Amino acid sequence: MRTNDAQMLVLSALADGPLHGYAVNTAVERMTGARLGRGSLSGALARLRDKQLIEYLPGEGRRRPVRLTDAGRSALGRELNALADVAGQLFETVVPDRIAYQERLNGTDQARAYQQVLLDALDARPGQHLLDWGCGTGAALPALARAATARGRVLGIDRDPRMALRAADLAAGLPNTAVLRADVHRLPLAPGSADRIRTDRLLQHLADPVAALAEARRVLRPGGRLVAAEPDWGTLAVDHPDPAPARAFTRHLTERIVRNPLIGRRLPRLAEESGLAVRAVVPVPVLFREVRAADRVLGLQRNTERAVAAGYLTREQAGEWLEHLARGPFLAAVTVFVVTAEKPGPGPVGGVG
Ligand SMILES: C[S@@+](CC[C@H](N)C(=O)[O-])C[C@H]1O[C@@H](n2cnc3c(N)ncnc32)[C@H](O)[C@@H]1O
Repeated sequence: MRTNDAQMLVLSALADGPLHGYAVNTAVERMTGARLGRGSLSGALARLRDKQLIEYLPGEGRRRPVRLTDAGRSALGRELNALADVAGQLFETVVPDRIAYQERLNGTDQARAYQQVLLDALDARPGQHLLDWGCGTGAALPALARAATARGRVLGIDRDPRMALRAADLAAGLPNTAVLRADVHRLPLAPGSADRIRTDRLLQHLADPVAALAEARRVLRPGGRLVAAEPDWGTLAVDHPDPAPARAFTRHLTERIVRNPLIGRRLPRLAEESGLAVRAVVPVPVLFREVRAADRVLGLQRNTERAVAAGYLTREQAGEWLEHLARGPFLAAVTVFVVTAEKPGPGPVGGVG
């Protein structure tokens, strides 16, 4: 059986037991954030009853409760398994551990490509004091330690205790490198104490990126440099013959999932407004031609399911969209902006050592 979406929503609403008509719509609203129209609800109930997937229990008029029949419960199970089947073949179904996710992501060609642009723009010199804001597992610390040499200093900063611990393990084997567990909105660092700040995919998550940029200005010495790499999720394009589900997926990601989804395009303006002088903006396209690789970054199946629950996609659209993505050929792209900004002032060009 293939149900339409209103029927599917009614079946799902009845999964936990009998409800009368009004309560069915309340349950639908809880699942999707929107109620079915009166005609849509009554039409779905009538068709499900014709197919003997639901039955009415004794009661007064409109208050007669309705419940799933055995056939209805099996139909619901089949429908719910349809997405999971596609997912099980190809997509990740569980949220990955954050440390494993970051380590895996940093190992991809896509990450290496824009991170090299970031490192080049940082132009870190021997003897300098380098900060890696939101250092995560510390993947960038070895390259920073090499650039600073034993004459300089490197400090990774992360608010998350597990991340900071993992980074500290790595830093222990590097010269003059340490890790600080702190919040970049407000750091226990002296004004003008840093030559360079590197940051990779941090600002998109912050409660107040403008406050963090002001903190960067405070902590940098005059002439010191911040280089930030941030995705712009509004640029996410996924190929599909019908642009509607792709647009809905991107819109859901930008409206419901990422805190500062458009930080990539906004960063140069915000940096200028924070008193930093923007020296360069390099948009780096990140291209995926392999659906598994894209899924590991974009959570295609997980976020599609969330988009369905939030009412951005119908279940039918979502099933068709995931099937198509799984079949391929696949293409998705998103732009990462690498922004170089300096604290105005003369400042020494070279290192401190
Ligand atoms: C997307 S991860 C990127 C990690 C790292 N830059 C990398 O490339 O692997 C963002 C990191 O920022 C950290 N973070 C988030 N908010 C923070 C804050 N307010 N202060 C410091 N770190 C923060 C998170 O714990 C996480 O490790």
